[in-house]
Amino acid sequence: MPEISSDDRSGEADASIAPLHLPDDRQLVLRVMPMPADANGNGDIFGGWIMAQVDLAGAVLPARIAKGRIVTVAVNQFIFKQPVSIGDLLSFYAKVERIGRTSVTVNVEVYAERDPANLHVVKVTEANLTYVAIDRDGKPRLIPG
Ligand SMILES: CC(C)(COP(=O)(O)OP(=O)(O)OC[C@H]1O[C@@H](n2cnc3c(N)ncnc32)[C@H](O)[C@@H]1OP(=O)(O)O)[C@@H](O)C(=O)NCCC(=O)NCCS
Repeated sequence: MPEISSDDRSGEADASIAPLHLPDDRQLVLRVMPMPADANGNGDIFGGWIMAQVDLAGAVLPARIAKGRIVTVAVNQFIFKQPVSIGDLLSFYAKVERIGRTSVTVNVEVYAERDPANLHVVKVTEANLTYVAIDRDGKPRLIPG
């Protein structure tokens, strides 16, 4: 992962370490680096691990909007565009697509920053998920207005 040099204390990011080509129309909701325990024998990261991270990342904006407890009701679409490798720094960017009566649907894009010597960014995953606001009994409740 790129480091901020010791003389960069002004609070201004050095352009050479800024992430490249990441979306600016979405919110960054999670950053995580997969570990060797998350990989298969080929060194690629398990799809199930990525799905779990996307579920966590996707819940951030719906939980804010619902102002309380939510559950995942549906994974409407999930595309693994490129494999993820150990050492990739994954950034999860989310956008709210629809706010319904009791549900919120989000689109999540996952980007991998890789190869620190020749830093570049690759879109690895895209997904669409729906979350439902629930009450204490686990029943759907209205999204607050
Ligand atoms: C989520 C849950 C509370 C919904 O209960 P329900 O009685 O089916 O609720 P409804 O039919 O009234 O649907 C509630 C909302 O979910 C939406 N929804 C239901 N099924 C859906 C599906 N397959 N895809 C997308 N949205 C769906 C409905 O459109 C509705 O949204 P709206 O109110 O904004 O229009 C219930 O299905 C549940 O508890 N599921 C288990 C959730 C869970 O454990 N998730 C974690 C698994 S890892």
